[in-house]
Amino acid sequence: MKPLILGVLASGRGSNFEAIAKNCAEGKIDARIAILLSDNPNAKALERAKVYGIEARYVDPGPYKTKLSPEAEEEYVRILKEHGVELVCLAGFMRILKSHFLRSFPYRIMNIHPALLPAFPGLHAQKQAFDYGVKVSGCTVHFVDEGIDTGPIIIQRAVPVLEDDTAETLAARILAEEHKIYSEAIQLFAEGRLKIEGRKVRVLPK
Ligand code: GAR
Repeated sequence: MKPLILGVLASGRGSNFEAIAKNCAEGKIDARIAILLSDNPNAKALERAKVYGIEARYVDPGPYKTKLSPEAEEEYVRILKEHGVELVCLAGFMRILKSHFLRSFPYRIMNIHPALLPAFPGLHAQKQAFDYGVKVSGCTVHFVDEGIDTGPIIIQRAVPVLEDDTAETLAARILAEEHKIYSEAIQLFAEGRLKIEGRKVRVLPK
């Protein structure tokens, strides 16, 4: 099978990026990362890409804090298209994508979120969940739409909150599951097994 061509966007640490890169390299998912783009010139993700021999670039996001400028969106889309990207994976990319970007990759953009959506969208989801006092949290992979963490859900995994947890120990337990479910979702996409019906994503049998 021809590998699915991925473009990954990451703003920081890049552990989800690395988990995907490792699973691609080990043949655990039928995909290849063609390009990593970051809005942060100091993102650790950019260094991690070198280790895997993956092309990585910082692309200036423009003057806004929470979104890309229209010119930057065009540049990101142009680079992704130039690399033949079929699926865009947001991996800790801390900006909201607007309509030009979304229209360029309809239902071909995934995001990972460190909570069981629709609970605790937005920033610092693990701490939000911890402070709220939930007994179970987890992570979600979803398709991206115009809202904040609102798109159709592909996979969720629950993680218990333990008595002696801190927000940090909970985040670490959730992160370990993020690293698994992101690749699982990409593999389902690569196999053509995700069917979107309104808000619902049906996983078709093999
Ligand atoms: C991950 O926990 C990811 O779920 C989260 O940022 C972290 C990035 O870590 N994303 C969001 O909160 C998006 N709303 P990483 O750079 O090590 O993959």
